[in-house]
Amino acid sequence: MKVIRSADELKAQIKREALFPVGFVPTMGALHEGHLSLVRIAAKECSLVVVSIYVNPAQFNNKDDLKNYPRSLEADLSMLGKVLAKNDIVFTPDDKEIYPVEDKRVFNFGNLGNVMEGLYRQGHFNGVAQVVSRLFEIAEPDLAYFGLKDLQQVAIIKEMVRQKGYKVRIVAAPIIRENDGLAMSSRNRLLTQELRNKAPVIYNTLSVAASMIQNCDIPEIKNYVVRTIEKTGGLSVEYFEIVDDKYLHPVNAKSEMKKRKSYFGCIAVWAGKIRLIDNIELQLV
Ligand code: PAF
Repeated sequence: MKVIRSADELKAQIKREALFPVGFVPTMGALHEGHLSLVRIAAKECSLVVVSIYVNPAQFNNKDDLKNYPRSLEADLSMLGKVLAKNDIVFTPDDKEIYPVEDKRVFNFGNLGNVMEGLYRQGHFNGVAQVVSRLFEIAEPDLAYFGLKDLQQVAIIKEMVRQKGYKVRIVAAPIIRENDGLAMSSRNRLLTQELRNKAPVIYNTLSVAASMIQNCDIPEIKNYVVRTIEKTGGLSVEYFEIVDDKYLHPVNAKSEMKKRKSYFGCIAVWAGKIRLIDNIELQLV
């Protein structure tokens, strides 16, 4: 694989390769099996794979989160070296390459940007849209790969692609979990051992919630989820919402749900100072 730092050089190299389709996996580094699963899918489906590693300041609504975000470029490159082919590219730009001039664009994603992560992390999705649109304009991929742990991010990116008229196809890939069920996340490595041991309760509880939907109404399920996770100690639920799969409209009563249609139970949990998100598919049968 080639490691490229400059946006112009990346454009030129992709042009030189003249391969189709080009698959793109944007990341903020601190790679884990979740990222590698995206890279593996891209490698299967595309003739040329570009992986970007860039910690995007614009999407952090919390200065400490940006400062503490794990960075492990050496280890990331060594992991990518094992899954990428010789002509594939790792793009490792600095701030000047991504934002040569200040990005003042304001995106409007309507309801998609106003619920859940959009509500609790003001400005987050605007920063994500800024960086991803800039990366799409540099790499001009045919396909781009995102993990479904960030379900709302996937919906936002699809909407941004629609609004901007980009030709890229967005591919969403399943959540990859640790053996104990915890969704893989770069932030997991920041957890204390005690909270890491407790964090699997998040997915275990979501799994119970997914089966409760057949017999219980939504307020009861929400109450169960918050109570079960918080009684573990050290964990605090920021939100738990059941939303439809397309517009992410929160559903507040089972009577609003359609049978055999996909909904998602989405959660954000503070584990000490670390914020974890996860989600699970729900269906009324
Ligand atoms: O999901 C992420 O890691 C980031 O939000 C992304 C898509 C790489 C943009 O910085």
